[in-house]
Parts: sequence; C-alpha cells; structure tokens
Amino acid sequence: MGTGLLVPGFARVGDTLHCEDVALEAIADAVGTPAYVYSAGTIRDRYTRLTGALAHVPHRVHYSLKANSSRGVLDLLRSHGSGADVVSGGELFRALRAGFRPEEIIFGGVGKTRGELHDAVAAGVLLINVESEGELRLLHDVAADAGRVAPVAIRVNPEITVEAAHAYIKTGEKGNKFGVPHDEVLELARLAHAWPHVTLLGLDMHVGSQLSFLEPYERGTERLLALCEQLRAEGVDTLRYLDVGGGLAVRYDAETPPDLTRFAEIMTGVAAASGLQLILEPGRFLVGDAAVLLTRVLYRKRSGGKEYVITDAGMTELLRPSHYNAYHRIEAVGPTSARVVADVVGPVCESGDFLALDRDVADVQPGELLAVHGAGAYGYAMAMNYNSRCRPAEVMVDGCRQAVITRRETYEDLVRAEVVVPNWETT
Ligand code: LLP
Repeated sequence: MGTGLLVPGFARVGDTLHCEDVALEAIADAVGTPAYVYSAGTIRDRYTRLTGALAHVPHRVHYSLKANSSRGVLDLLRSHGSGADVVSGGELFRALRAGFRPEEIIFGGVGKTRGELHDAVAAGVLLINVESEGELRLLHDVAADAGRVAPVAIRVNPEITVEAAHAYIKTGEKGNKFGVPHDEVLELARLAHAWPHVTLLGLDMHVGSQLSFLEPYERGTERLLALCEQLRAEGVDTLRYLDVGGGLAVRYDAETPPDLTRFAEIMTGVAAASGLQLILEPGRFLVGDAAVLLTRVLYRKRSGGKEYVITDAGMTELLRPSHYNAYHRIEAVGPTSARVVADVVGPVCESGDFLALDRDVADVQPGELLAVHGAGAYGYAMAMNYNSRCRPAEVMVDGCRQAVITRRETYEDLVRAEVVVPNWETT
C-alpha cells in the first residue's frame, strides 16, 4: 500500500520502499538492521525551505545538535551554511570537530559546568545563553580568569502556555526549570551590562518543541521586544541578537505543518521592530522527516488475545514512543496487503519497550523489514546501550549513493571505558 510520498525522500518504487534512489532492502542487506537511514535530499530541502522563506529577514540559523549530532548530518548542514547550537561540552567538541568555526556556534543549556563555560570562552563562541544569576556570575569569573569578555544572551522564560504533544517537551511555561523568570530578566540584564567580563549581546527564548502553530512565537517575541525596549531605554546599547529558539514541527501523523510564510512574516516584524539580527535554533524541523529506522521482524506472537510484532529495534534505538508516547508511522518495506492490529515491540527486557501500541500495521512476518518514519530527530541521538545493546549503524543516502556515516557499535565498544583491573587507592 503506497503511502511513501507522505514523506519526501522515502517513496515506494514498484513494490518496495526506497530512500531516494536506493532500495531499503539493499541497505539492510549491506549494513544489517537495525539501522537509521537518512535522506540527504530531505535535509537539504528543509534547510533551503527555511532559509528561503527567511531570505529577507536578517537572521542566522544555528542547527540544534541535540536533535542529531552525527558527523554526517553536521557536515551536510554546515556545507549549506548552517551554524550550530550546542548544549554541552560534548556537543561543542562535536561541532568544532565537524568544522564549525567558533563564531558559528552558540552555547545554551540550563546546567553548564565551570569546565564547559571555560571551554566555550576559550573557543570564542558567538554567544553563551545564560539561564540564571549563578551562571552569569560563574561565567564572569571564568572569563575574568581567562582575561576575556564573554558574549552573553539571557535566556528568558517567556512564561507562555503552549500546547505540546507531551509534558516532557514543554519548556517555556511559568515555573519551568528553563530560562530566567520573566520578572527577573531586567535585573540580571543590568548586572550583565555592568560587569566588565561579560557583554550583553542579546535575549533568547525557546517556547517549546514540535510547534505546529506559530502563536507562541508571536507572544514570546512580543515579550522579548518589550524587554529590549526597556533595556535600551536604560542605556543598554550592546544588543545585537534576538534568539527565538527552535521548535518548528514536523509531520509525524496528522499534525499541521508549520506555515513558513507566516513564520517569515512574524520574523520580519520582529527583526524590524528590534533592529536586531534573529537567531533560530531549529533541530527537529531540519532532520526529523529525513530518516527512517529500519528494523527486521524477528517473531510474531499472540498473547492474551493480542498480536505482537517483535522487531530487532526497540526503545534502545528509538526511545520516543516509550518515553513520550510519541507516534511514528510504521510501514512495511516490502509488498504486503494484509493488515493486522498489533503491538510492535522490541527485544528489550522492559514492558515499556515498544515502537507502537495497538497499531494497524502491515501483517509482516519474521524476516520482513519495517521502516519507522520520522526518526531523524531525537532518534539516534537518544539511542542507548541498555541491555548491552550496540547502537545501530547510520547510513546516508544521496540520490543513488549510500554511505555508512556511523558504523554499528561492536561488543568491544560496549566495554571500552571500563577498567578491567581497578587501580585501588587507599586514603
Ligand atoms: N533550542 C533549545 C533551547 C531547546 O531546548 C531545543 C529543544 C531546541 C532549540 C531544538 O528544538 P526543536 O527545533 O528540535 O524542537 N527529545 C524530545 C525533544 C526535546 C527538545 C528539547 N529542546 C523529542 O524527542 O520530542
């Protein structure tokens, strides 16, 4: 049953599902399963659609590495002109190693350590988004020690209520751990303006993730604009950036895709009213639609009147279904006509290990392949080694070419960091 065109990059050719011009069967044969398969064309398409819509808005795109920090994905986005948004020393390391210049990197996150702040200052990143007074003080200290002036934006909690698919991906509400409470921002901004080893370059927000509707951006930016005006009225003349965060949605099921024309209109207004360069931190929008998780059916089983499809991928490869109850469309790679209502579950020893519950899926048999769609964002990045499972391979497809961009882990990788004979020290 051909539903492939719903996701550009993945379509049925004849009877079988392809990624661009490559049959997923061929990839499974070559690299095994489970495997993430990415469509380079889809990533390019999303990047150029977003930057194209914003062509007349002074802006910078900083791809949010948390969605997928694999080198092959970073190389692709960097080669198209994207900057990077990182939230840990590890992501900073990955971004630098992938060739992003420090001035193309912004550093955010609610709990940066002294070491991470030091690394960001030493590297000379464009902007460090600060989330509390304690962090501003520590950053000031670190910059003073290094004889530098750290470039700072304050992450404002805009305190607006946003409809989200799951409570775990809400970020911009009152009382949330993220950002500086709205009524404390001016005070903190005054400190940042006064202290010699930080310079206040901007304000930042992130209203939520998987946002189909754009009203939260309107309300959030209104609040940021009002703060900018107040700061300027007080003589703060260093502001250069307004960071509107990430959050643009992709289509997992029947969600409305965000209207980029309307998004650009809103951003045009914000840029004009502020006179500042806008920063965007999209993650999911750029890569979410760009991958499937390819998995093979191991067994079929009936238990308690329920049908089970047991696959070689589960929560260790794609955590989103069990962690957020997230919906990912599942399609048989080969030809099938019969359907079945089943739980599609993985091999992990947890009842919460599933890819789909009570789902009308193709009546696939052991040995057949399934593609789990919409797996490009927060898929491989959240994969883990629980049950000592090796993280899967990642394959990039570009037209008729394919390449492994991350090899499948080996058993040796699992024990690489372990000390076999501990060096006991007595105190
Ligand atoms: N900027 C900040 C400050 C963020 O917290 C996030 C995501 C982004 C940008 C990128 O957001 P995006 O454009 O991807 O929506 N693991 C969850 C999503 C967590 C999002 C966390 N913050 C999921 O699988 O749905």
